[in-house]
Amino acid sequence: MLGFQPPAIGDEEIAAVTETLRSGWLTTGPNAARLEQRMQEFLEAEHVLALASGTAALHLSLVALGVGPGDEVITTPITWPATANVIVHSGATPVFVDVREDDLNIDPARAAEAVTERTKAVLPVDLAGQPAELDPLLELGLPVIEDAAHAAESVYRGRKVGSIADATCFSLYATKNIAAGEGGLIATNRADVAEAVQDLRQMRRGDGSLYDIPVPGYKANLSDVLAAIALCQLDKVDRHREIRQRQFAMYDEALADLDGITPLARDARDVHALHLYIVRIDPERAGATRDEYQRALREENIATSIHFLPVHKLTWYRERLPGQPALPVAERAGDEIVSLPLSPAHSDDDIGDVIAALHRVHERVNA
Ligand SMILES: Cc1ncc(COP(=O)(O)O)c(C=O)c1O
Repeated sequence: MLGFQPPAIGDEEIAAVTETLRSGWLTTGPNAARLEQRMQEFLEAEHVLALASGTAALHLSLVALGVGPGDEVITTPITWPATANVIVHSGATPVFVDVREDDLNIDPARAAEAVTERTKAVLPVDLAGQPAELDPLLELGLPVIEDAAHAAESVYRGRKVGSIADATCFSLYATKNIAAGEGGLIATNRADVAEAVQDLRQMRRGDGSLYDIPVPGYKANLSDVLAAIALCQLDKVDRHREIRQRQFAMYDEALADLDGITPLARDARDVHALHLYIVRIDPERAGATRDEYQRALREENIATSIHFLPVHKLTWYRERLPGQPALPVAERAGDEIVSLPLSPAHSDDDIGDVIAALHRVHERVNA
């Protein structure tokens, strides 16, 4: 089976983990501090805080910005459920609005229509690495928490993602462009947000013998073992990007010949992080549905994935938020999208195998 997104781990990561284990620092320590410093430079942000996960980064950002019970947070349904779950964890209510047809990012016009006196924040997602349309969202005058789990290398209209929103949240999950296995980061230019997150992630201060807490925290700090891996991955970010760039170009070229299978739009004004290669399968033109293509590819030993099933249709949200309006663009896309294998651990031949399998399936279902 050709893996969907295998991690690209080399001897450097293995050596860095060994060295960290030998150093005696297992919890947050010098590696986490170095990672924060280097990501600050990389993201061109004034503050970067390392956390246990992307989910924790989103949750603590909401709490730091004062989102709580009675509030509403506007977000997109085409995301990993964590984006919405953390709104629920904060005590607020997620308000899902529809996405744009071309890149499946939140539609800023729909977001503007959804603002009420209870709206406390907006939480866009940079799906696949394409930055959300941030300017009109910022113009709403509400705090913007950007879910940049896919967007570690993205630039929006000349500005680095991480330097724009009130809080920008990254993930270091196993499949991400900078992968530590687990982990997250918050980038912010707001000193008040950085200070609040510092307390909320709750690390012991001083030598631990006398301590105090300003707030009951969440114990969401990043281990130095994982920070060591993230630092190695950061060293390789350009090299890995070049490989993914080649893989994107191979897919772009191949799809031009496959009627009914179209990649999501990438805005030429921005730098796309090339995190996921998502295609839409139009069953009328492609000769079969997304599910049928996914099954046929599996039989060809090609693993694929779906990013994402619309969150508002998943059980908890469907049952707890029954009055939600239909979101037709997201709902149709949820049936049509599939993500193809993409990873710096894959060779060009691997991607060639995916393309050959895709051609065979396309021919078979259109025979
Ligand atoms: C869009 C999006 N948001 C948030 C997350 C959560 O990040 P983590 O797994 O690091 O908690 C993920 C996935 O991992 C994601 O894809």
